[in-house]
Amino acid sequence: MEILATDTSLLEWTGDGLAIGLFEDAVELTGEQVTLDEKLAGSIKELIAEEEFKGKQGSTAVTRVGGGSPVRKIILVGLGKPEAFKLETLRRSVANVARLAKKQKCKTLGISLPIWNNDPTQTAQALAEGVQLGLYQDNRFKSEPEDKGPQVEKVDLLGLGGQEAAISRANQIASGVFLARQLVAAPPNSVTPITMADTAADIASEHGLQIEILEQEDCEKLGMGAFLGVAKASDLPPKFIHLTYKPEGTPKRKLAIIGKGLTFDSGGLNIKGAGSGIETMKIDMGGAAATLGAAKAIAQLKPDVEVHFISAVTENMISGRAMRPGDILTASNGKTIEVNNTDAEGRLTLADALVFAEKLEVDAIVDLATLTGACVIALGDDIAGLFSPDDALAAQIEKASQTSGEKFWRLPMEEKYFEGLKSGIADMKNTGPRPGGSITAALFLKQFVKETPWAHLDVAGPVWADKENGYNGPGATGFGVRTLVSWVLSDS
Ligand code: BES
Ligand code: MN
Ligand code: ZN
Repeated sequence: MEILATDTSLLEWTGDGLAIGLFEDAVELTGEQVTLDEKLAGSIKELIAEEEFKGKQGSTAVTRVGGGSPVRKIILVGLGKPEAFKLETLRRSVANVARLAKKQKCKTLGISLPIWNNDPTQTAQALAEGVQLGLYQDNRFKSEPEDKGPQVEKVDLLGLGGQEAAISRANQIASGVFLARQLVAAPPNSVTPITMADTAADIASEHGLQIEILEQEDCEKLGMGAFLGVAKASDLPPKFIHLTYKPEGTPKRKLAIIGKGLTFDSGGLNIKGAGSGIETMKIDMGGAAATLGAAKAIAQLKPDVEVHFISAVTENMISGRAMRPGDILTASNGKTIEVNNTDAEGRLTLADALVFAEKLEVDAIVDLATLTGACVIALGDDIAGLFSPDDALAAQIEKASQTSGEKFWRLPMEEKYFEGLKSGIADMKNTGPRPGGSITAALFLKQFVKETPWAHLDVAGPVWADKENGYNGPGATGFGVRTLVSWVLSDS
């Protein structure tokens, strides 16, 4: 599919589907829309009246235009209240339009939506992102593709002539989101620690990044007892991935991004019971997938920032070699951990990844992890938890999230709750009580960061969407990639 920026007017555009955006309770046609409607013998006004179209956010209406008209179908899309108009409104609306156009068998689509905040560049980027993400399909695991109908082949963004660079940025970012979605959606017998390392190597060779894969022996030498404790029961070798993007000149900043990479989480000997969603635990590498997706996008966008992409990848399995509840592990910073629950494995893998990242002397570390069910209970499926002892870094993430439209909510790192992780025998336990479970998880991670500004993003909810939701789902969302990209690209 090709997305083009054009200054072709609403009146001159020809093709299968022409989409027009209208604000809520402001569905009077204006400017060229009036002339177009006259040209089409009043069919737009008729459509508005017949469908009682009010312009509500998320609503659409479509009609066929007969009589050999140069436009086959008119699609109306509601933009909601003008005062609530955001870049995210554009992404979501245009994703609805693109999906509807496909259902309506439009191969060519013209889109005429208002410019956000007098900013054609951001508008074009958001529209292109929405189209790409909304039309994403994954047929890899079907023996026959389900939908054999015509695809949207060409999309014209009307009134946005000259915005080619914004569109290609959107395409590069979308390629990272697609990679993350593919990795998360693939089953755990297909995406394994080995294939994750292979994927990282492919990104490195395709886009010119440095790559280092630490094998089990390398991790042993570095004393990564926490990560290796989790990996012990798996028949597959653990892989510690370290990709590096270096800009051509002197970097403005040095950053590290860490993703939790459990290609499957059975719970270990504290095995996940029936009804616990064990069959969904292929998503437990969603943080690592976002990290690799961000690497792919950033390698193409080429910012003046050095970025390290890190993931300690393994499975959490059971076998005679499995770590036992009660085992004590020693992490690479020398801290000892009593494993009172083998299902709190993500924080063990992240512990050694955080220690590794801090040794790189970066200016900031951000980790993404499908860490706790408790965070999903607190914030639901659409919102990720944001934890950081550093207000400035938390503000950077919040700003990046406003640009990306991915939602985060900052939760407190209440030090008193660390009492729940006190161990009688080791430096700490890996699991606290159920109340405040995502906070104690964050406090556990904090023990492995000394002084580098650090933020932890608990993405257990939003990496997967059960239902279609704007430009996401159903299925893997690629959550995190766009916020990471926007954070790395920001000047702050
Ligand atoms: N991978 C899970 C968390 C998770 C839950 C991710 C739901 C996505 C959806 C994590 O490893 C886990 O098992 N967490 C436990 C922690 C508990 C044992 C302290 C949990 O949330 O129940
Ligand atoms: Mn677990
Ligand atoms: Zn897990």
